[in-house]
Amino acid sequence: MPTVTIMPSGKTVEAAEGATLLQIIMSSGEEINHKCEGKAECGSCHIFVHEGRKGISKVAREENERLDSIVGVGSKSRLACQAKILGTENIKVELLGFSSGF
Ligand code: FES
Repeated sequence: MPTVTIMPSGKTVEAAEGATLLQIIMSSGEEINHKCEGKAECGSCHIFVHEGRKGISKVAREENERLDSIVGVGSKSRLACQAKILGTENIKVELLGFSSGF
């Protein structure tokens, strides 16, 4: 099973196919905002995906529109609640803390 490494702590957990990055990060015990409970409406679960971007689902229109409205978005940006594990490769993400999103 592929893994997700969560920066800055460096914690590595197993990544079940079909799970979202939000679910995986939450079950790892790390803190991540998720104010709209995974509906791509709040942007508070904004993270950077540094490695393994081919191992998660592509950005859909709702996620793209929400990302467009967030300050500090870059080419590595994803909404953790919208990115699903495809199970093909290991992934490394960076939590951005409470300064990101809304
Ligand atoms: S939890 Fe609101 S956009 Fe992801």
